[in-house]
Amino acid sequence: MTRDTNTQKALVLIVAERDVALLDIPIPTPGPGEVLVKVHSIALNPVDSLYVGDPLAQQATRVIGTDFAGVVVAAAADLASSPDVRAAAGARVAGFLQGACSRNDRPGAFAEYILTPYDLTWSVPASMPLASASAVSMCGVTAAQGVFFRQQLPCPFWPTSGWAGVAPDQEINYLVYGASTSLGLYAAQLVRAAARFSNRRVRLIGLASTAKHALLSAPPYSYDVLIDYRGDWEAEVRAAAPAGVDYAFDAISEGGTVRKVHDLLAATAAPHAFVIFRNDRSDLKPAAPGVWRSTGYRVPPVYGAAWEALGVEIGYDNQTIPAKPEARAFAAAFYTWLGSAAADGEVKLQPNPVRVMPGGLERVVPDGFALLGWNQVSARQCDRPEEYMRPISGEKLVYELVRE
Ligand SMILES: NC(=O)c1ccc[n+]([C@@H]2O[C@H](COP(=O)([O-])OP(=O)(O)OC[C@H]3O[C@@H](n4cnc5c(N)ncnc54)[C@H](OP(=O)(O)O)[C@@H]3O)[C@@H](O)[C@H]2O)c1
Repeated sequence: MTRDTNTQKALVLIVAERDVALLDIPIPTPGPGEVLVKVHSIALNPVDSLYVGDPLAQQATRVIGTDFAGVVVAAAADLASSPDVRAAAGARVAGFLQGACSRNDRPGAFAEYILTPYDLTWSVPASMPLASASAVSMCGVTAAQGVFFRQQLPCPFWPTSGWAGVAPDQEINYLVYGASTSLGLYAAQLVRAAARFSNRRVRLIGLASTAKHALLSAPPYSYDVLIDYRGDWEAEVRAAAPAGVDYAFDAISEGGTVRKVHDLLAATAAPHAFVIFRNDRSDLKPAAPGVWRSTGYRVPPVYGAAWEALGVEIGYDNQTIPAKPEARAFAAAFYTWLGSAAADGEVKLQPNPVRVMPGGLERVVPDGFALLGWNQVSARQCDRPEEYMRPISGEKLVYELVRE
């Protein structure tokens, strides 16, 4: 698709028009610590369309998109002697950028070439298609932030305080609301990793449509209890865990789920036992830039933005979130762990099942964003008849810019 050696195609938000165009833009040059990646696949996240329909961006134009996977084609001069495989031309890597999800002028991932700090990418095992790898980075790190950074579960790559509110010999009940979401699929695997690492027995209880129960009861998720969120699910969770659940992960956090999930927590649940990923009903108020606090909850929902992983200041909503070096260090440790056994073909986190969509960048908005919708995950509606336009369920939408 590239016409000459200096320009590339990219999906660009025209802020004044709240519209996206496929434009020619310059191919960038890596700065210190950065690699230039030829993008093979991109994966879609709800935020990609959310901030096109309701832009945070204050510039005239912004390259959109978060998740990518591709091949390193150049590295900054300061990486010339780096022993890290991710800094070498030819490396198969995946990662995420912020796209147009902030006020800051940083390009996103929906382009033929992108720049990224090499240590915020992960090595993709040779056995894993880049289309699958592109589905991991943003929701994977968000789930890891929830499970390890915020809930402090035992972690194979980062020091945490461990299980809390449960006796050492007690089975741990962990609830995932929205178990078939991308976030939920990664959360279950990471909770399983925490259980293995600490040699504890965890009982996973998941809320998802019945059609997804077979997927979720099989490895690597291996849910113990699965309940359809369309029935009287609160009563069913209470029947499954009469004393309440010890931990909860609300991957939806919309339309009152935060309160309902909260009320299923055990009386002994730790103060950081409940993580959420949206602030749909303003359950949380900013107490300081980048710090959200709730009132009226026995176990306060803990919220954070995935972007903290990038370690840069973020103009977000009505506040400026300061750079958080510890959150960046956590993300770098997570990505190093993800790719740590790639050379041996070992996969630490199974990618979401992917739906490879027809076409390339030019089809992202008319098809992909039509399926994602423009705001709530629980309120998506798309009546297109094509088979590839069926609702998103337990999977990630992926576009291949380069077919492997
Ligand atoms: N805070 C952050 O940094 C951060 C980062 C990433 C994502 N998020 C947010 O987290 C949310 C989830 O994102 P995602 O990418 O994981 O979503 P997703 O994979 O696109 O979600 C699709 C899934 O949602 C499920 N679903 C829809 N309505 C539901 C309901 N009422 N109850 C339970 N499940 C329902 C569907 O389940 P069935 O098919 O089983 O019906 C479907 O599998 C989004 O709001 C996203 O913006 C936040």
